[in-house]
Amino acid sequence: MNRSSEPLGAVLTSLSLLLLIIPWSLGGAYTAEEGAGDAHAGHGGPSEMSAGQFMAITILFEENNWDADAGIVVAPDPGWMVMGGERMSMNPVYLAAYQWGYSPAEIQLEAGVEYQFRMMTMDVYHGASVSTDSGSQMVRLIPGVVIEQRLTFDEPGEYTLYCSYYCGEQHNGMSGKIVVV
Ligand code: CUA
Repeated sequence: MNRSSEPLGAVLTSLSLLLLIIPWSLGGAYTAEEGAGDAHAGHGGPSEMSAGQFMAITILFEENNWDADAGIVVAPDPGWMVMGGERMSMNPVYLAAYQWGYSPAEIQLEAGVEYQFRMMTMDVYHGASVSTDSGSQMVRLIPGVVIEQRLTFDEPGEYTLYCSYYCGEQHNGMSGKIVVV
């Protein structure tokens, strides 16, 4: 009688597999991590993806990391693994940019932990900039391209994520928040 639950289960399983597989499949396109200079940030090369695909992954990320008290809480990575010579996080942070904000709008992270951010714009060019203890990190987000950035926040506190690329009338107010505990 309750046959309708089966397709839903299949869809959820497919989405879960997609979430697991995509970091792997993206891995081959990344360039080697830039080792020189700042030890607290690194980034690989870009990979292409549709806005719809990225948003679906971001929504799953939000659901999987949802905490009723603190919102989106991303725990330290259970383990990094090497795929195709590139070190990949098992628990990356997804961030979607749009006119004019970020989703999730607020993320809670732990201090002293390296996180692998995967970011993409859903519409026009945006920026994603944040000042960490080891300096200011800035990336430009290009439609259809997943940008990777590794970030470590050494000190607890509230960090503002802001758009650093003019994207329209509300560009100046486009921001997000990263709470480090
Ligand atoms: Cu988004 Cu400026």
